[in-house]
Amino acid sequence: MARMMITSGPTRQYLDPVRYLTNGSSGRMGRSLAQAALDLGHQVVIISGPVEINYPSRAEVVPVVSTEDLLDACQRVFPGCDGLIAAAAPCDYRPIRVASHKIAKTGNPLELQLIETPDVVATLGSTKRPDQWIVGFALETEDQRLRALVKLEKKSCDLMVLNGPAAMNSRRNQVEIIDRKGSLIDALAGPKEEVARGILQVIQKRLVAPFQSCFPSSAELAAVASRQN
Ligand code: C5P
Repeated sequence: MARMMITSGPTRQYLDPVRYLTNGSSGRMGRSLAQAALDLGHQVVIISGPVEINYPSRAEVVPVVSTEDLLDACQRVFPGCDGLIAAAAPCDYRPIRVASHKIAKTGNPLELQLIETPDVVATLGSTKRPDQWIVGFALETEDQRLRALVKLEKKSCDLMVLNGPAAMNSRRNQVEIIDRKGSLIDALAGPKEEVARGILQVIQKRLVAPFQSCFPSSAELAAVASRQN
């Protein structure tokens, strides 16, 4: 059994108290991955941006709003986990200035200056322990495998799940899973629940089983600690 952290849904970057930048993400892929992980007997902590869907009741859910909140929550939770599945679509830019009052219309164009938000997976990847694994998601429209492989390397992921823009806000998904060498491990298509079960099978075989034969899992360490207390 492993303890898995799953990031899910979009994040929001506010311009003023009512308007925000975001990404089109429903959280359905994160929910399906959480359910598939729970069905295999794993513990699941979901760090989720604002979504309309409900997550499985057996998962622990940490709600967040912005990409900075997502990073803070992940940095708090990840040390107690064996692996991360990063299915969130964090907003990559934030306005340099956030207005404290609703920005009034003037009839003129409104110029926004944006800067990049932190990359959550890259930050966690750069400090992860040897006994922890990370599975990233890449949504690409061109040169999909090459770009996904570059992201896998840059963000220190162990596997990358590659999907197209049709996945956004949809009930179905079509994915390819690539490893650190760029080899295609699996290609899956169907309802997100079915695709998530396939992804979890790959994670189980390639990451959970090999890592647990070398290191005790976070879930096992927590169980030993609670028996000693
Ligand atoms: O947006 P991008 O294509 O770079 O996303 C690839 C992976 O990085 C995804 O797993 C996504 O959850 C993660 N990501 C992140 N923080 C960001 C942007 C993306 O964790 N600011």
